[in-house]
Amino acid sequence: MVAVTLVLGDITEQQVDAVVNAANSELLGGGGVDGAIHRRGGPAILAECRRLRDTEYPRGLPTGAAVATTAGELPARWVIHTVGPVWSARGDRAAQLAPLLASCYSESLRVAAGLGARTVAFPAVSTGVYRWPMDDAARIAIETVREYSADIDEARFVLFDSAAYDVFAERLAR
Ligand code: APR
Repeated sequence: MVAVTLVLGDITEQQVDAVVNAANSELLGGGGVDGAIHRRGGPAILAECRRLRDTEYPRGLPTGAAVATTAGELPARWVIHTVGPVWSARGDRAAQLAPLLASCYSESLRVAAGLGARTVAFPAVSTGVYRWPMDDAARIAIETVREYSADIDEARFVLFDSAAYDVFAERLAR
């Protein structure tokens, strides 16, 4: 059974086996979590991302998929890059996209377990640049991680501001 924990802080400071990156399909960096991880993790991460683009993912990492690289200078062993869906308020698009957000969490845990990682730190995927509402993202994230039964000891949600932390805490308490 995965222990689900919450931390208010910076995901690049988490001393865990695997840190999940809210990447984009290009896998070549960006802002937010992606920018922080590459900045703090250093060039080794980007070098491996480039190799992934040249080999396994010539057309980029699909939304909802996950792939691991070194964690470079981060206090972790791996970074697991995942690509969240971009929020769309149009009609039933949110309902169609929600399984892709869930997949970011389940696929990241699957990759982590495959590596032998026991502790995994997650950001609130898709809730920044990709504009997914925090409460719905928290619901999907917590439900998905709770359903996961593989041998991961801790899934740690690292929230960057107290508003996000409070939303996750309320969802976790349900
Ligand atoms: N540690 C923890 N959480 C963080 C950090 C950090 N250092 N920096 C930002 N966050 C939070 C944001 O406040 C937001 O709640 O992570 C959440 C996800 O925001 P983004 O990083 O913008 O990720 P996302 O919404 O999934 O958009 C991905 O943004 O940065 C680009 O290259 C990335 O194109 C991709 C897109």
